[in-house]
Amino acid sequence: MNVPFVDLKKQYAPLKQEIFAGFEKVLDSMQLFLGENVQTLEKDFAQYSGAAYGIGVSDGTAALQIILRAMGVGPGDEVITVAHTFIASAEAIMLTGAKPVFVDIDPNTWLMDVSQVEGKITSNTKAILPVHLYGQTVDMDPLMDIAKRHKLWVVEDACQAHGAEYKGRKAGSLGDAAGFSFYFSKNLGAYGEGGFISTNNEDLAKKIRMIRDHGSGVRYHHDMLGFNGRLDELQAVVLRVKLKHLPEWNVLRRAHAKQYNQLLSGLKVTTPFEKSENSHVYHLYVIRTENRDELQNFLKSKGVFTGIHYPIPLHLQNSMAYLGYKKGDFPVTEEVTSDILSLPMYADLEEEQVKYVVEMVAEFQAGNKS
Ligand SMILES: Cc1ncc(COP(=O)(O)O)c(C=O)c1O
Repeated sequence: MNVPFVDLKKQYAPLKQEIFAGFEKVLDSMQLFLGENVQTLEKDFAQYSGAAYGIGVSDGTAALQIILRAMGVGPGDEVITVAHTFIASAEAIMLTGAKPVFVDIDPNTWLMDVSQVEGKITSNTKAILPVHLYGQTVDMDPLMDIAKRHKLWVVEDACQAHGAEYKGRKAGSLGDAAGFSFYFSKNLGAYGEGGFISTNNEDLAKKIRMIRDHGSGVRYHHDMLGFNGRLDELQAVVLRVKLKHLPEWNVLRRAHAKQYNQLLSGLKVTTPFEKSENSHVYHLYVIRTENRDELQNFLKSKGVFTGIHYPIPLHLQNSMAYLGYKKGDFPVTEEVTSDILSLPMYADLEEEQVKYVVEMVAEFQAGNKS
């Protein structure tokens, strides 16, 4: 059996006609940027995420960078985040000229250890950037409490968390602003690049709109430094069609995760820990396992494709060497990085495929014991 890591062709087939009809309308009108589709998506995805304002942008990295710029974060400032994430979480901070400051992760959820944040706050700290990694939200109530006491901005990195919930509230409505990615493989993905910003802060929303379009509110009047961070109409067509299916797709992802959890329960792996107050949307289904690299190769030989998210923690990346971190600085992050493995996960995954993946993990472990 072949189990790809994601299967976009399967998702596309039933949506094809509707997407093409939308493309045709856009191309007939030649309104290619910031038209009806982007505007409707902005309204609908903000509403879905429980936020008052939505701004479509070019990608998730731009989303985070634009938010930070709108908050006035820049050279000399510090932003607290985690080293266990995709590079873009810290890259967005660095692109503003500010410095990322890392804290370790919680050993159960593998998300920002909120109890370590306060100890990292200095007079230069401007913001905290929690990452809702894999599709589960960070413990936001205590984090917002810290931010409030120290007058810091909170930027949710919700790039992997479309529709994830914390105490019944959605990612995107939990901090001062949130950045989403519509990278093709995300729970809500474009057919190219795309991103989104949600916020309940009207003043911030105004600045964000301007920064994504060269610092301009009125054409050719550039009142602040911005850049080209716009979302295009063709991507917005795809996203509007897919957004209607996102709730049901997230339900399916959760069902697949449950099946994985049950079938893997007798094996020597650690399955994801979902906190009771959360609704995890399993952008990635990540286990911890002994002999990770050997298992990954074995699975590949059996037609099962997996990933490692992520193999090198950010504090040990060459591009971050100037920050002065060293091996051993974030022990939980480093330990988790060494044995995580992302199993195939997408809404269209079939029960038989999940069963086969687990059978292959069991076969590997049985072979390894003898
Ligand atoms: C946690 C996280 N942050 C930021 C990003 C950046 O998003 P994009 O690739 O759309 O720039 C991603 C996407 O890959 C991500 O997974």
